[in-house]
Amino acid sequence: MSVVEYIYTLRQQKRRIASIPPAVLRHERNVLECTILLVKSLDLSSADTIDLMDAALHHDIGKVSIPPDILFKQGQLTDEERLIIQRHPDIGASSKLLPSTVSARAREAIRSHHERWDGTGYPRGLAGDQIHLFAQILAVMDVYEAMTSCERTYREPVSHLEALDELERCAGSQFSPLIVQQTIKVFRHQSPLLLAAG
Ligand SMILES: [Fe+2]
Repeated sequence: MSVVEYIYTLRQQKRRIASIPPAVLRHERNVLECTILLVKSLDLSSADTIDLMDAALHHDIGKVSIPPDILFKQGQLTDEERLIIQRHPDIGASSKLLPSTVSARAREAIRSHHERWDGTGYPRGLAGDQIHLFAQILAVMDVYEAMTSCERTYREPVSHLEALDELERCAGSQFSPLIVQQTIKVFRHQSPLLLAAG
């Protein structure tokens, strides 16, 4: 059993599986795969690594609160629908569906995974290093996975290298420049999702 399989099996709960759409579970698992590849290149303690893994695996748990017709809507969202979607980080961070072992730091990362480096993200509009390091990492892994996923609702997936170019383009605005730099260094020669599929 791989590390990912182990963590996935250990952390998932029957009621969580029952209430989260399969596409969201697959996305969270892919983000975990990406995070594991990156984390091997970082000098994190065991406790930090576990918290980051937990945050990756549960970062979108708040999406259980979003009606499926909004979550999987084809095409443009209305302002009202966008606000409903933007509640999912706060809802997820305090969700009763999270295993009780998920730490306060992991919950903070879940709450902040849609913050942007330039302060224009949500839910709090944090900027730069106000954003927890784990959330800075998740933001990059989340968007990389979303860009390359075949499950995009209304856009074609982009290639691995195109996704890395897009991350680089958004370094310093959407993402931490350091995290993007490290991601490109690690992912350039190996796509984490192709590795996982293999
Ligand atoms: Fe999210």
